[in-house]
Amino acid sequence: MPTVLAIETSCDETAVAIVRDRTILSNIVASQIDLHRRYGGVVPELASRQHLETVNGCLAEALAQANLDWAAIDGIAATCAPGLVGALLVGATAAKTLALLHQKPFLGIHHLEGHIHATYLSHPELQPPFLCLLVSGGHTSLIQVKGCGDYATLGSTRDDAAGEAFDKVARLLGLGYPGGPAIDHQAKDGNPSAFQLPLGRVSRPEGGYHPYDSSFSGLKTAMLRLVQKLEATGEALPIADLAASFQATVARSLTQKTLACALDYGLQKIAIGGGVAANSALRSQLQAAAAEHNLTLYVPPLQLCTDNAAMIACAGTEHLQRGDRSVTTLGVQSRLSLESVGTLYTHIIGNVEDTSAGNAVSLPN
Ligand code: KG4
Ligand code: ZN
Repeated sequence: MPTVLAIETSCDETAVAIVRDRTILSNIVASQIDLHRRYGGVVPELASRQHLETVNGCLAEALAQANLDWAAIDGIAATCAPGLVGALLVGATAAKTLALLHQKPFLGIHHLEGHIHATYLSHPELQPPFLCLLVSGGHTSLIQVKGCGDYATLGSTRDDAAGEAFDKVARLLGLGYPGGPAIDHQAKDGNPSAFQLPLGRVSRPEGGYHPYDSSFSGLKTAMLRLVQKLEATGEALPIADLAASFQATVARSLTQKTLACALDYGLQKIAIGGGVAANSALRSQLQAAAAEHNLTLYVPPLQLCTDNAAMIACAGTEHLQRGDRSVTTLGVQSRLSLESVGTLYTHIIGNVEDTSAGNAVSLPN
């Protein structure tokens, strides 16, 4: 397996990591949470500027921590989609420049493919096919992983992503940013059955429900009405009970959909990823449900669930080994489906460059 250095700057973490053979050699994450906290969310322009100031220091630290120089690096990867365009541009431009400078192959990586690969770092024995539940600030997806670069999105969200719902409800409860960890923390002292809340189902026009799709707008509205009703009594809000009930409802909804999807598609293995995969209620409910149905649940440690560059580097090693290369004229994109991962690469077949995947102009070396 080759050694790949990767840069991740799709949102509010500046991250650089080096990975070889599903093993992390270094993993540097500079979080911008303190910068954005006072605005209650990520400010894209501030994120880009901060990435620009931090990325060189992270690169030096990643090489030093791995005790490697550029000669030991076989490929340079960067998240190129989806994400905040200005933020993505910083990491992608840095990676392309380094690839040209050091005459290394460049690989543009899909951020969600990175989250899928995080599980390989904690469980190197895991092989496709499996189902991956990706729940982050921007995504709530159920993905059938058939192989490297080969994915089918079986479920998604109709409105807010799970992390967004956590962040908005945390704001409603006055818990600050980021909301997920704050709700998780408060929920530890609360009663998850204190309030009955709607699970959030997506109706089909012909009747019934989409079994794997999520919707959190109804749950958010129910929380708003509940808080307004409780505030009208003039008593202090039962924050811990509200947080625990909300968290348990999100966890129940995601667990039901994930299990139904795995069983319907005959997938024996389930991996989870994204920031919300750090949620304690979701982890324990999924664990119990998987055990009940004899399915194996793969749960990466918290620092690999949230954004990091090790997961991007891991995806980079697999693409590099398959012969995939990205052109250094590859652009960044705010949206890109997982099914379109192939458009990030040219495929090297023998000595002939196959440009049918699109985006191909010429290789850096
Ligand atoms: O994957 P991630 O780090 O960034 C992207 O969105 O790509 O996910 C961030 C999201 C935020 O919405 C944050 O509130 C949520 O993950 N989160 C959590 C927890 N830790 C982070 N949500 C619920 N429980 C947690 N323990
Ligand atoms: Zn992410």
